[in-house]
Amino acid sequence: MQEQTTYNYKVVRQFAIMTLVWGIVGMLVGVIIAAQLLWPDLTYGIPWLSYGRLRPLHTNAVIFAFGGSALFATSYYAVQRTCHARLFAGPLAAFTFWGWQLVILLAAVTLPLGYTSGKEYAELEWPIDILITLVWVSYAIVFFGTVATRKVKHIYVANWFFGGFILTVALLHLVNSAEIPVSMWKSYSAYAGVQDAMVQWWYGHNAVGFFLTAGFLGMMYYFVPKQAGRPVYSYRLSVVHFWALIFTYMWAGPHHLHYTALPDWAQSVGMVFSLILLAPSWGGMINGIMTLSGAWHKLRTDPILKFLITSLSFYGMSTFEGPMMSIKTVNSLSHYTDWTIGHVHSGALGWVAMISIGSLYYMIPRLFGKSEMHSIRLITVHFWVATIGVVLYIAAMWIAGVMQGLMWRAVNPDGTLTYSFVESVKATYPFYAIRLLGGTMFLGGMFIMAYNVWRTVVGAKAVDAPIMRPAAAH
Ligand code: HEM
Ligand code: HEM
Repeated sequence: MQEQTTYNYKVVRQFAIMTLVWGIVGMLVGVIIAAQLLWPDLTYGIPWLSYGRLRPLHTNAVIFAFGGSALFATSYYAVQRTCHARLFAGPLAAFTFWGWQLVILLAAVTLPLGYTSGKEYAELEWPIDILITLVWVSYAIVFFGTVATRKVKHIYVANWFFGGFILTVALLHLVNSAEIPVSMWKSYSAYAGVQDAMVQWWYGHNAVGFFLTAGFLGMMYYFVPKQAGRPVYSYRLSVVHFWALIFTYMWAGPHHLHYTALPDWAQSVGMVFSLILLAPSWGGMINGIMTLSGAWHKLRTDPILKFLITSLSFYGMSTFEGPMMSIKTVNSLSHYTDWTIGHVHSGALGWVAMISIGSLYYMIPRLFGKSEMHSIRLITVHFWVATIGVVLYIAAMWIAGVMQGLMWRAVNPDGTLTYSFVESVKATYPFYAIRLLGGTMFLGGMFIMAYNVWRTVVGAKAVDAPIMRPAAAH
């Protein structure tokens, strides 16, 4: 009987707790590789602790383990609450949890061992790719099944973003991971040469656009109005935002391949669509921030809202910077430099991590039958440590990146290079130290959060809220 009357919070709880765990693991690996760039001999030449193997471990852990778990947790929570329906196919939902954790464990073993398909953000070898496909199809069945069995007529906009993200990631994974296995742990891409590069960066850019953006916008459309206690600023804008964003992102991939063997016209298409992308991105950001209209005062006292709104500011910043970097002449300076790394982390730490943290702080007490987190003051401390950490990280990388770009292109009157490469590495050193400090602060904030979450849930009883009747508000 309980089956029909309550929401399925179990799987949400599981994913929420693992978001925190994988966030700490992934960022710890980030801190280690940041330290390796400062002290290259840090891991004594042990192959499986080498920079080349830990770097993909970091990206996979933060994007797919941390970000992925956050997306599963929040989409399962929001879709049930907004559809007034229990999660469809409970056992399949449980499979998505255990299956996804298995994918992560396999990644954590195979990447340090050096097994890789060599495609960035799609490094996992073919047996794991098949498991990912099974989990993802199950995810789609659970999510869309819940939408189909909803008790309200309307499909709330957050579900459009989550749904768009689920469908697109399925498509990206299937097309980009088409590969020919030659042994149990080695495969080769089904594509070759410049086609392979184009498919890879169509995937890579849309992994940013859908995995790291559309899904998190779904989060924004649910948790910002909830925490602010206000309706979305403009519902009409949110619908325009959705269609404009998903249409435009698809075409922007070639900006990762400027000045390569990719035909010039294709590079220009990528650049133009990237510039257009500024409009829907900012439309969404403004819609999120303006949701606070009439409730701005809450920002002063509510650290969860601080996390959510600051994440939107970083989103606005990185989606302004991205279109600028996609302009060919700007990219000729920024490409290969730490500017790109700064851009990545203003999106990844400032936007993705901060909106996830805010959403987790919203959900955790509700999932464990508490009225609020153990300590609001500690959330405030976390907010400041994290914000200062991101700013240190990205400011250091911007300065280092522009400096590197300028040093590499500087020429003497006789046409010879002014600086050798190693001089630019040396000049970058202090900035790597600042990045390490910023990253360590951000990681420290995660530990504060872990303590706060532990104090909130220890001894608490896991509760599944009753399903609301359609007339009630979600
Ligand atoms: C404590 C926090 C973090 C630290 C210290 C950190 C550090 C690093 C370092 C040192 C690199 C390699 C840079 C290079 O090759 O020059 C890197 C790459 C990367 N990180 Fe992080 N990171 C952190 C958090 C995150 C998070 C939360 C995400 C995503 C949600 C993320 C996504 C990435 C991506 C996508 C790359 C590859 C960038 C590229 O290839 O251009 N990082 N990180
Ligand atoms: C309007 C939105 C955006 C545009 C047009 C854009 C554009 C760009 C450009 C031009 C690059 C450099 C490519 C290169 O020189 O190799 C880049 C790199 C990157 N961006 Fe963005 N960006 C946007 C938003 C974001 C956001 C919000 C995130 C993160 C959440 C993000 C994550 C990344 C990553 C991970 C890379 C590095 C890829 C790699 O080389 O491994 N971007 N982006």
